[in-house]
Amino acid sequence: MDHFLYQGGALYAEDVPLAEIAASVGTPFYCYSTATLERHFKLVDEALAGMDHLVCYAMKAASNIAILKVLADLGAGMDVVSGGEYLRAKAAGVSGDRIVFSGVGKTAAEMRLALEGGVRQFNVESEPEMEVLNRVALELGTVAPITVRVNPDVDAKTHAKIATGKSENKFGIPIAKAREVYAHAARLPGLRVVGIDVHIGSQLTDLEPFRQAYRKVAELCDLLRADGHEIIRLDLGGGLGIPYERSNAAPPLPLDYGVMIREELGHLGCEIEIEPGRLIAGNAGVMVTQVLYVKQGEGRDFLIVDGAMNDLIRPAMYDAHHDIVPVIEPVPGTENRVYDVVGPVCETGDTFARQRAMPPVQAGDLIAFRSAGAYGAVMASEYNTRPLIPEVLVRGDQFAVIRRRPTFDEMINRDTIPQWL
Ligand code: LLP
Repeated sequence: MDHFLYQGGALYAEDVPLAEIAASVGTPFYCYSTATLERHFKLVDEALAGMDHLVCYAMKAASNIAILKVLADLGAGMDVVSGGEYLRAKAAGVSGDRIVFSGVGKTAAEMRLALEGGVRQFNVESEPEMEVLNRVALELGTVAPITVRVNPDVDAKTHAKIATGKSENKFGIPIAKAREVYAHAARLPGLRVVGIDVHIGSQLTDLEPFRQAYRKVAELCDLLRADGHEIIRLDLGGGLGIPYERSNAAPPLPLDYGVMIREELGHLGCEIEIEPGRLIAGNAGVMVTQVLYVKQGEGRDFLIVDGAMNDLIRPAMYDAHHDIVPVIEPVPGTENRVYDVVGPVCETGDTFARQRAMPPVQAGDLIAFRSAGAYGAVMASEYNTRPLIPEVLVRGDQFAVIRRRPTFDEMINRDTIPQWL
């Protein structure tokens, strides 16, 4: 459920017409709903009620500090994967003891930053990384709390580019090697083992792969405890999918996910962390763009819009589907037409949808790409010297620009011409 609904013939974000925002900030833009962000966070948080837990929002999904603040105010922790994300979390007012640091390639500088500023734990992904973290912690005269990310070798049954839990993926250490790696960690005085971490992929639409992975984690927990390690925390990663197509069956509910976690892991008495990103932000955002031209091609009509693959890369990168709706509600009974919806960038990959049946629209009309709140703005680039598009946050009948569109001067002035030219 989200808060982008038609009211009186126009698409609104909560109580603000999207057309009003377009008139104020120009197109294209991203628009987020505070109420949807809050609702999703609460659903996830409540799904773990009764267990000692912390929901660490995977801020890579949408990392504007205004979004982080909305979630942090509800008690969210953060899952960060870079020094930049760590600093964003801090800028949003999140304290270090609520920040988990993930990622397969943390640098020594990032480790230092987090150790100095405070961190809940590092989710370590390899023995060489463990050695570096140990060294950095000792240099700073401190001890780094860690989990080790294990790769359980389960098939997440999702798009190959976002599956992470198979042995051929670069993530984590093979679960079969875990006891050895934990023994190694225990010998390093700059590290303190606090738990186990696992994350098997993103946009999972079935609980079974999670269940298989968590069952393996439970077995490992017993073994590691028997080996004398203190396992007080299980970080279960993110990955629960969202409904992208209204016409498709909905993925499992957070509540069912919570029940499964309790069934598989509840007996261990561990604190549970989860790292949802898409589940919280995905359906809390839309990208609004304007139709520039309706171009009749051979046997197909192209809708050329002012948003492009640099603004929303998911269709080009993962063949992702985003529902597309006109901002003016079609009158009931309007027959759909079929379009290829494309951006202005000079490559065929700049295609949002092929042969999409949707209500007829004209040049000048606004359309919205739904479910664009996660991995939308954060993956945008300035390809074709197209400015990063603004982000707007709505709350009730108010809206605010939470990141403005840069000017061309700002973009161009970041370049410098060497003195020899
Ligand atoms: N934790 C870790 C360690 C992760 O690598 C990820 C996502 C998450 C949590 C959050 O996963 P989520 O709950 O959002 O599924 N750009 C892609 C998705 C990449 C996901 C990468 N890792 C897309 O647009 O579909």
